[in-house]
Amino acid sequence: MPKHDTPMLDQLESGPWPSFVTDIKRQAAKNEACWDILGQLELSYKDKITHWKHGGIVGVFGYGGGIVGRYSDVAKKFPGVAHFHTVRVNQPSSKFYSSKILRQICDIWERRGSGMTNMHGSTGDLVLLGTFTEQLEEIFYELTHDVGVDLGGSGGNLRTPSCCLGKARCEWSCYDTQAACHDITMTYQDELHRPAFPYKFKIKFSGCPNDCVAAIARSDLAVIGNWKDDIRIDQAAVKGYINGEFPANGGSYSGRDWGAFDIKAEVLDLCPTGCMWMEGDTLKIDDAECTRCMHCINVMPRALRPGVEQGATILIGAKAPILDGAQIATMIVPFIKMDPENDFEELKDIIEKCWDWWMEEGKNRERIGESIQRIGLPTFLKVMEVEPLPQHVKEPRSNPYVFWKEEEVPGGFERDLAEFRKRNPM
Ligand code: HEM
Ligand code: HEM
Ligand code: SF4
Ligand code: SF4
Repeated sequence: MPKHDTPMLDQLESGPWPSFVTDIKRQAAKNEACWDILGQLELSYKDKITHWKHGGIVGVFGYGGGIVGRYSDVAKKFPGVAHFHTVRVNQPSSKFYSSKILRQICDIWERRGSGMTNMHGSTGDLVLLGTFTEQLEEIFYELTHDVGVDLGGSGGNLRTPSCCLGKARCEWSCYDTQAACHDITMTYQDELHRPAFPYKFKIKFSGCPNDCVAAIARSDLAVIGNWKDDIRIDQAAVKGYINGEFPANGGSYSGRDWGAFDIKAEVLDLCPTGCMWMEGDTLKIDDAECTRCMHCINVMPRALRPGVEQGATILIGAKAPILDGAQIATMIVPFIKMDPENDFEELKDIIEKCWDWWMEEGKNRERIGESIQRIGLPTFLKVMEVEPLPQHVKEPRSNPYVFWKEEEVPGGFERDLAEFRKRNPM
């Protein structure tokens, strides 16, 4: 029997999309707390305000983050959600699971929590939604001892890294995103569990510029796969596309009639640099002019593949609007090798240079993207020990407020006015 009337939420049980209300009601049959979460949510729908109190500081000993505390401001009415803390559990790379592990986590969560989850949080964590403070150490003990999984990150620290599914199921992956994500997560456990940074810091891994984990938009340090040599072309397969044997874009547009495949209109003319052409029925690419946008490869996956000299581009500084405005990441290092054999040494060198600088120079609650804007890209490139390249900018500056270092200017900055007046008397 429902514990509370939920006329507004009940409306969300209709329609074709899987209803979270129906799901929570089903879970409520096992756990009273779920009726109270529905009750409080219905009240918020009615009042049009949240009914969670501000903040909440809870956790487990040894760690400075991982659990987001939360308390109801209508706890008398909904005692099942008086405490409703969220536990972030570090997910496996690319979220491949066995049913055994998921069953183990569900068993713990049904016993010690609400039974509600978020699969997964935007950063990547498996999120366990709603439990009481006295259960936190119990849950942590069982997760670590029985399942062998750890908490994810929260607070002014390295958050849980995440990756696209990479070489596990994609022919375009230019490095092993899962191995890199796992290695970096394990290497920097201390930075993840115990906040030591000016603010949060996220790392995301995509195998190619399609960027399926959106690293360029939602990680402070984005590792995006790339290649240096020529796109591999299978000319027989190109002919297969031209004569309609293979569907363009792996059949992604089959829901509508776009006419027969036209390689000129759909590939050559859409190449952003115009570096492709046909010689008879042979496809040619001037790879020196290719920006690796992925378009031609996305359209003809059977015929075109990334080159074999593979690695990644490093971009830094993406963040949401608060405080100084949203940022997409800025390219810092055009190409590094991503080698599991040397434990991703080149990447770690970059990560640690970033942190060394930002941990000293970053202001309180200033994302690295804002530190770079405040102090300047030239200074950041210098601390990263990267030579400035034309590729570091979309366009050169248009204002003339250029700083020079004193040693770059003949005669330096110390000038004697009396000397000047000898030549230019008052
Ligand atoms: C043929 C006439 C002039 C020439 C060739 C000239 C040239 C220059 C140059 C080369 C600078 C340095 C720009 C820089 O630092 O990047 C400058 C700065 C300046 N000029 Fe002139 N100027 C002329 C006339 C004037 C006049 C008539 C005024 C004022 C009534 C003026 C006011 C200034 C001021 C205030 C600055 C400093 C701007 C700054 O600090 O950035 N100039 N001028
Ligand atoms: C009430 C009158 C004025 C006000 C409130 C005013 C205000 C300002 C401000 C805020 C700046 C920018 C300073 C900076 O970015 O560091 C500036 C720059 C400048 N002003 Fe004025 N100004 C006034 C009158 C004048 C007059 C009458 C002249 C020239 C005859 C003048 C010439 C300049 C020049 C050349 C600059 C550029 C200096 C630079 O590039 O650093 N201003 N002014
Ligand atoms: S980002 Fe690239 S490599 Fe990774 S899954 Fe997407 S298309 Fe494949
Ligand atoms: S990857 Fe993009 S830039 Fe390069 S050849 Fe293909 S369409 Fe042109």
